[in-house]
This record gives sequence, C-alpha cells and structure tokens, in this order.
Amino acid sequence: LSIPDLIAKKRDGVELNTDEIQQFIAGLSNGDVQDCHVGAMLMAIFIKGMTEKEICSMTTSMRDSGERLHWPQFRGSVVDKHSTGGIGDKISIPLAPALAACQLKVPMMSGRGLGITGGTLDKLESMPGYQTQLTDNQISELISTVGCGIFSQSAKLNPADRYLYSIRDVTATVPSTALIVSSILSKKSVEDVDALVLDIKFGSSAFMKTTEQAENLAHWLYKVSEMLGMRTCCYITEMNNPIGYCIGNAIEIEESIDLMKYKPGHSKDLEDLVCEQGGRLLVLTQKVNTIDEGREMLRETFKNGSALRKFHDMIIAQGVCETVAKQLISDDDNAIGSILKLSDMKYQAISSETGFVQAIDSLKLGTIVQRLGGGRLKSTDKLDFSVGIRLLKHIGDSVEKDEPWATLYAGYDASHHYPKFLDDFNASLTVSASPVVPLQRIYKIMG
Ligand code: URA
Repeated sequence: LSIPDLIAKKRDGVELNTDEIQQFIAGLSNGDVQDCHVGAMLMAIFIKGMTEKEICSMTTSMRDSGERLHWPQFRGSVVDKHSTGGIGDKISIPLAPALAACQLKVPMMSGRGLGITGGTLDKLESMPGYQTQLTDNQISELISTVGCGIFSQSAKLNPADRYLYSIRDVTATVPSTALIVSSILSKKSVEDVDALVLDIKFGSSAFMKTTEQAENLAHWLYKVSEMLGMRTCCYITEMNNPIGYCIGNAIEIEESIDLMKYKPGHSKDLEDLVCEQGGRLLVLTQKVNTIDEGREMLRETFKNGSALRKFHDMIIAQGVCETVAKQLISDDDNAIGSILKLSDMKYQAISSETGFVQAIDSLKLGTIVQRLGGGRLKSTDKLDFSVGIRLLKHIGDSVEKDEPWATLYAGYDASHHYPKFLDDFNASLTVSASPVVPLQRIYKIMG
C-alpha cells in the first residue's frame, strides 16, 4: 500500500498489520514519509486507537528503527524509570545518579517537553555544555564508568521516536494510549533494561485526566513491557499539584541538586517519590528484600553525598566543563545562580485569604511556564531556561492573607506571550479555612 493508503486504512478503523506498521516507521527514515503524512497518521491513531497487536508492532518497529544497546556484562543490574509527564516532574534527574550510587546501571533515554509537561532533557540542557546526543560508544563508556547517563534518542538510537515525538508535541496527539506506550517502551527496550518503573500520572495537568484512564494506560504499559522482557512496576500518581517547589528548566536542576545535597528545606514531596521509585528498582533487581530497605538505601545516597558525586561525574562525562560542574555542586548559592540563571523579571503571587493550602493548580502554572518560553508551541521553538516558578508553600501549609506564596521568573515580554499570565498566576492557589491533610501522591501500585 502507499503511505496515503495506510493512513486511510487507519482513518477508517481497519487494523494495520505488522508489515504495514514497519513500512510506515521505515518511511520516517528513508524519506517515503513526510511531516504531513506523520501528522495525519498520528491523528488517525489518536482517534481510532490501536489494537494490542498494533501497539506491539508499533513498539518493536520503533525500537528497531535504529540500533540497540546491549549490557551482557551488567545483566540483572540495568534499570530505568520513565514518567508519562508532569509539572515539576524532575524525578529522573536525582534518581539516575542515586541508583548509580547503589551500583545499578542506568542508561536513561529521556524526552523533551511534551505539551505543558517539562522534559528532562530540556532541563539538563540548562547546564551549559550538557550534551544529550551521545554515540553508542559514549553511552557504553558512561555506563561502565559512571553508571548512569541521561541522553536522547538520536539518528542511531530510536530515530522513529525522535521524529514522532516532536510532531506529536505540536499536533495535539500526545494523550493517546497507543502512542504513549509505543514511545516510552520503544525507548526502554532500546536501552536493554532488566527492570523498569513507570510513573503514570493522572490529574488536570497530566495527559490522563482520570484514574480510570491512567489505570488503562498502566495496564497496557505493563502488558507490553513484560512482553518485551522487562520486569515492570507501574505507579499511578496524582498530578493536579506540581511536584516539589519548582517548575521550569534551570530552576528544576537547582531543586534536583538541592535534594542530592540533602540541603535543609529541600522538597520532601520530591524526595519521597524518588526514594519510593528508586527503592522499587532495588527490590525488582533483588539488591534489597523490601521496599523499606530500598527507600532507605536511596535516601542514604543523598545524605552521604554519593548521588551528588555521581551527578557531578555524569554531567562532566556529558559535556559540562569541570569548573561549571564544581560550581554546581558547591555550597555557594551565588555560583549556582550564575550558572542556572533565572530571569530577573520577577512577580510574586499573594494569597487573598488566611488558611491552609488546599490545592496549587499545576495546569495553570505549567501553562504559564510553557507560554512564557519554558516550553514549546512549535517544534522549532528555542527555550528560555530562565523562566520558572518557585512555590513558597506546599499542600497543607498555613498561609496568611497578603502573604506571598510563589515567585514567577517571567522574562521581559511575558504579557505579549501570554496576556493573562498574572491573573492565572494569582488564581492558582486554593486556600481552605480548615487544616488540610498533606498530599497523597501515590494512588496505586500495579505489577
Ligand atoms: N514520555 C515519552 O517518552 N513519551 C510519551 O509519549 C509520553 C511521555
């Protein structure tokens, strides 16, 4: 069939066979498939969905669109974690070095921002020099020496996901079970991991709005992942409120480093999620017997500085110069601020009531950061790493009338990019007159 015929078949709800899916995916690199074909096919998949057979064929065709990594020498110890995307979701950044500090191997192929959700790679690139495109040899060296690396798809590693991901981001085709499953699991199976934790978000700022949708996505992720030979555990977690205190690119690196330094005042919310998911990987690889031991082993890497040292080594191996890396892990906030620069155009959000923080609208805050340049609207958009939001309060904290509860680092032409940014910023807080129980992030663990 021709490419338009394949699109028509999907549009009409007819199942594509494995050869047809392989033909389409191969066409992404051999020139048979153009951007307009991709947009149309993605929308047809989004609307019609895919059968189990189609999802499996899509995942393996994407995986096989390039080369695969192999780790026979580390068998049993190769792990990764991937999230479906959230606001303030920087879990991977401290997690990969912490796992490496526990002697696991973490070849983490990550993603850029999708829609309003931030991307791990974009955040890492706010450190000058950080390279996300690595050759197979560089990845092998990094995993053998440091133990972890966070890098992107490339012309050689899962080029199909690289292409589809950038077009999904700008064609409103992200929240599709078939596309999310094939995107995430093609990357993870290229990595050749033994064990995998998947964090499936639900809520107003997640791609899956309800727990039912998230459970359905988790079901598919689990099924296809196990079929591909990865021991998998899925977490279904709340995403109505931002994770941690920071949202943005440079600012989330700063917050990740604060956790790795175990700096007083670092986010407990972030720490708990990282220790839980990392602890689970230690259980899945039988490095510990219980999740309690796993959590504690992870936490210890932050307390004793071993995760921070791995982070330092990882970023140097990925292109950051030694002076910059040293400054980033130093205790000098000014030195860190001079590298992870935040916009000096600042606004404060002020509470209009006295009470307790009940909710912080991550959909609104994520949209502000994206629209002000922290995320993309077109695949060619250049990011402004200096845009971000720092929360001064978290769920359950008390707040006074007229007290500031968040700072926005906005960039100079904020109202041009998003005229209602200040109204939305101020309207993102919900205050309750009575005490509020702190946030329960984990809704369910599957697998
Ligand atoms: N992360 C990915 O890698 N792909 C998706 O589709 C969503 C989140």
